Amino acid sequence: MKKVYMNKKGFLGLPFGSGKKKEEKKVENKENSEKSDIEIEKKTAKPKESEETIKDYKAGLGEDPTIETLTEEMKIAKRIAKEYTEEEGVSKKQEESDESSSKEVPTYKTGIAGFDVLLGGGGIPCSTSVLVEGGPGSGKTIFCLHVAQSFCEKGKKVLYMSFEEPEERLIQHMESFGMPAKKYVENGTLIVRRFNALDIARSVEALLSEAKKELLIEVQPILIPQDIEPDLVLIDSLTSIASAFSGEDNRFRIYMEQMFRYLENNKMSSLLIREVANPGHIGEGHSASDEATSFLSDGIIVFYNVVLNTGKRTRAIEILKLRGQPFDRRIVEAEIINKKGLMVYPKRTLKGKYTLT
Ligand SMILES: Nc1ncnc2c1ncn2[C@@H]1O[C@H](COP(=O)(O)OP(=O)(O)OP(=O)(O)O)[C@@H](O)[C@H]1O
Ligand SMILES: [Mg+2]
Repeated sequence: MKKVYMNKKGFLGLPFGSGKKKEEKKVENKENSEKSDIEIEKKTAKPKESEETIKDYKAGLGEDPTIETLTEEMKIAKRIAKEYTEEEGVSKKQEESDESSSKEVPTYKTGIAGFDVLLGGGGIPCSTSVLVEGGPGSGKTIFCLHVAQSFCEKGKKVLYMSFEEPEERLIQHMESFGMPAKKYVENGTLIVRRFNALDIARSVEALLSEAKKELLIEVQPILIPQDIEPDLVLIDSLTSIASAFSGEDNRFRIYMEQMFRYLENNKMSSLLIREVANPGHIGEGHSASDEATSFLSDGIIVFYNVVLNTGKRTRAIEILKLRGQPFDRRIVEAEIINKKGLMVYPKRTLKGKYTLT
């Protein structure tokens, strides 16, 4: 397999595997420290929202007489959630000693209380790539901003790669939902950068020509700036990158494969936004590279714009896929509230007649 190295302003690519040993050691330590944080969080954490937010969240959790029968996954998720609640009495010292022997996969919470309930007391496994997909204006970006906030408040580094909105607008958006984005930018936990998708497509094109169009090129993706080692990478959006490849579906697919591999090798957690015409893989219209991306991802979270038969519009969210974690398989209602952001109501299963868009 031919290795291709590239050096381009703003997207400097190191030879794949250069400094790997050092990197691996570093990653191991990072993973251990991350694991201990997360394990402690699992057993002690409660949603850190304001009282008002908790009230809204409880409203979503409130008794719903028409709720559908629990699925098997939901039962598992509930049981796990209960186990964690029961463990709350365990002393911190005990927790720490349990951690070292625990083989459990480290996970992270999104910080969106209602959504985390769908994860059944667990979380999204760390170092995985999860697609966040849905139609226009369905809530994908706001979801990612919440996860960014959740990482930043724990002092973890987040890289938000925007191909659509300018940096200032995203920071302002976070601030408007009560997230101290400016503070995170100042203390270096949050890096918001705007990228040009055409630059990426051109670089991939150049690499592939150099590799004489071999399908297996080995490059550090041009995408991640080499000077940043984030714990979480948010890409907004894959759709913008794909469109810059203007019909070169195969090249985009190769690029995606490389990117997934890079994120995995470097133990980065990532959320990759994708705009879809048919959310939840309903019906036709998915290209071969879309399908490949779906299979490559470790998880898929879907946002829906919903039209009820009454004519009313609402929002909904679903976890479609999450490798290695039990989760609640229902489409539940969600809402975007001024000054608060995204609220997910895990007890409000979508029912009656509706159209998902
Ligand atoms: N302050 C606010 N109060 C209430 N709703 C808001 C507020 N800000 C945004 N929204 C709603 O959130 C929606 C946009 O959410 P978001 O930007 O996360 O969507 P998206 O899926 O990323 O959209 P796109 O595909 O256009 O990038 C808007 O359509 C708007 O209805
Ligand atoms: Mg968006």
